[in-house]
Amino acid sequence: MHLSVDSAVLERSFDRVPFAFEHKLSALELFDETSLHRLAQRYTDRDAFVADGAPSADTPFYDVEHDTQRPSEALRLLDHQRRRILLKRPEGYDPAFRRLLSEIFAELLRMHAPLRAERVVRLESSVLISSGDTITPFHFDPEISFFFQIAGEKRYHVYAPRAVHENELERFYVKGVVDIGQLELGERDSSCEYVFALAGGRGMHQPQNAPHWVETSGGRSVSYVVSFETAQGRMRGRTRSFNHYLRRLGTEPAALGEHPSLDAAKAATMRVAIPMRRMVGRTLRRGRAR
Ligand SMILES: [Fe+2]
Repeated sequence: MHLSVDSAVLERSFDRVPFAFEHKLSALELFDETSLHRLAQRYTDRDAFVADGAPSADTPFYDVEHDTQRPSEALRLLDHQRRRILLKRPEGYDPAFRRLLSEIFAELLRMHAPLRAERVVRLESSVLISSGDTITPFHFDPEISFFFQIAGEKRYHVYAPRAVHENELERFYVKGVVDIGQLELGERDSSCEYVFALAGGRGMHQPQNAPHWVETSGGRSVSYVVSFETAQGRMRGRTRSFNHYLRRLGTEPAALGEHPSLDAAKAATMRVAIPMRRMVGRTLRRGRAR
């Protein structure tokens, strides 16, 4: 078993409220220094994101200098500069990561029956390696995550998803992209904040759309994240994108979940409308270019 999670907490809080758990991943050879260097060398710009530490938690995510260095070079210089290296989908680069991802997900399925009833539409992992004293600015991710701290110390500030207003989620989901969601930190309700002092062997569950910012302390930090989206989660995103248009027309949309069949109809409409809107946009841009 890789994870140790309190089953009552998992049942009560899964995808609703962040919670801590313990794990045994830190001992795996996969995460030792030599293996991580070997893994980083396999990455070019694709599937990797190398960024400086942010000056503060409320810095806009993409305002921080990024992608000026290859992952292997940033890793070599990690103790001499403040960098954050994200290696996306290592399971596509090393079969040992593919095994680890499927073992962890199988454990989650065994532990949490409602997840077995869901259709998972995207499952992937990532490796995060950061210098000490480095800040990852405030944002949210449109996916459910299990975050494993492998080595080093991290203070993880995460808010329950209820800290995000519906209109903010609608603005994000109308784009129909898998990307970070940008939010203003100052507008959050501080009673929704959870702070986890993470070190090797400790982990944290992060619900979909749970905004967070992270700071490392003294030395370098290594983390591993398992993330996934369910068909239900995707559907809620499409419903929210429909609600975005309703709000623009001056109509207050019904609360999500209040009328499930209406939510489903809205989502079905946007399943067609979002790709069509993209196609129209592309055509218009081509037209303008002529
Ligand atoms: Fe994130």
